[in-house]
Amino acid sequence: MYRDRIRLNTLWGKVMSPEEAAMLIKDGMTVGMSGFTRAGDAKAVPLALAERAEREPLHITLMTGASLGNDNDKLLTKAGALARRLPFQADPTLRAAINSGEVMFIDQHLSETVELLRSRQMGPIDYAVIEASAITEDGGLIPTTSVGNSATFAILAEKVIVEINLAQPLDLEGLHDIYIPTRRPFREPIPVVAPESRAGLPFIPLDPGRIAAIVITQKSDSTATIEAPDTETAAIAGHLIEFFQHEVRQGRLGTTLAPLQAGIGSIANAVLHGLIDSPFHDLKMYSEVLQDSTFELFDSGKLAFASGSSMTLGAEAHDRVISSIGRYKNKVVLRPQEISNHPEVIRRLGVIGINTALECDIYGNVNSTHVNGTHMMNGIGGSGDFARNAYLAIFVTKSLAKNGALSRVVPMVTHVDHNEHDVDVIATEIGLADLRGLAPRERAETIIRNCIHPTYRELASDYLRRAIQRGGHTPHLLEEAFSWHVRARQMGTMLPSQTAI
Ligand code: COA
Repeated sequence: MYRDRIRLNTLWGKVMSPEEAAMLIKDGMTVGMSGFTRAGDAKAVPLALAERAEREPLHITLMTGASLGNDNDKLLTKAGALARRLPFQADPTLRAAINSGEVMFIDQHLSETVELLRSRQMGPIDYAVIEASAITEDGGLIPTTSVGNSATFAILAEKVIVEINLAQPLDLEGLHDIYIPTRRPFREPIPVVAPESRAGLPFIPLDPGRIAAIVITQKSDSTATIEAPDTETAAIAGHLIEFFQHEVRQGRLGTTLAPLQAGIGSIANAVLHGLIDSPFHDLKMYSEVLQDSTFELFDSGKLAFASGSSMTLGAEAHDRVISSIGRYKNKVVLRPQEISNHPEVIRRLGVIGINTALECDIYGNVNSTHVNGTHMMNGIGGSGDFARNAYLAIFVTKSLAKNGALSRVVPMVTHVDHNEHDVDVIATEIGLADLRGLAPRERAETIIRNCIHPTYRELASDYLRRAIQRGGHTPHLLEEAFSWHVRARQMGTMLPSQTAI
């Protein structure tokens, strides 16, 4: 009976099929599931729930750490099982249902979900469904490849369903650091004073009496499809490395830089990859998602330590890293996302945050989430947690999208996730704009000069010139501010008809 996986023998009688466990969840309930950027998600109960929802009315509110793998969001959406979903997703089927208004999506800063639950501003949670590699002798849960919101979901839920995944190695034990902040208003400072600080327990403490069911699974995490660095992402990485070297020469950073955070996606991954061939050394990460580049940096000897909330890896890196996780255990810690993304810790450590923009504007406001200000892409994720509190808040993006039909630097963004007050640096493949200490008119000149694609530069300069004539601290032509977006909707391109790319 998997004695090494379920170490408390009074729980052996709780083992049941995914279908039986899913029957515990009733229509209208709120469910908190493990899973963060495809890592450590529950793998059997969500499928059983989707199958049930095909046959009978079943609509739940689903909370997770972040996005799920194994097509969980797709299958639950197709079955009509999702009434509400938070705080992040990255699935095309769910995205379409959110944008059609079928699923109510709450796009939250990833550090905030459990604060809202703990203070009963949201919730309560009826069931937590948590993937674990093992249950300890005392009923504690040893998480797998992510911690996300699992700890607080398990602690606050009425009942807990545990998925013991035999495909996740027992060697994951010891990787996690579960620290739960004390209640406000008498909260103590969070004792994380360096990326490698350990402040909590290596398991999620849980009264075993609250475990309602245990399901045995044997399925790997979905692997990430991270595109290999291309010339543009390599150019963005190059600009950032040059900028870091400049900061070292100015005495503002040492050659070990500051703890690094890199957001999801190919560009941030490529930027970290670029550090392999840089003069920097003994780097540390205080990030949220640890991607392939983290382990490439370890293997190249550049990285000394990485703190995150999940490990989301491509197929090759997944097999290599997970099968030899023992090799990395003294260099990696996985924390609850409220700690990996905690404003207090990010500000204390002086993190360099590198996140991706969908579009930015000439003043440095960043849209990370809404295409044309209306259609949700993925969600703000942790980008706001880091940008607001980072020592350096950097946003990266290619200057163009859709083969040049769209400029990703525009007069005014159609939705603001990170406002100009939070954004220190913007880098595209064209160049880098260091916006620190600049007034809006100076920011606009710098962004247009350094970041916008040459095809759109004169168009942007002309807009700025005419806006300045009208005056203002942050000059704009309100009747034209979204004209590029409107033109793209009407003509398929932001370029005026006579301009060729
Ligand atoms: N307008 C319309 N569509 C745009 C666009 C724009 N300004 N910019 C990009 N797109 C499209 C791209 O063409 C692409 O579409 P395709 O898949 O059909 O080709 C898609 O949006 C994704 O763009 P891409 O450049 O490939 O982005 P990415 O994979 O690097 O992701 C974000 C960029 C912003 C969507 C992603 O980083 C994100 O979700 N960020 C928010 C969360 C976050 O930052 N978390 C960080 C902490 S982990």
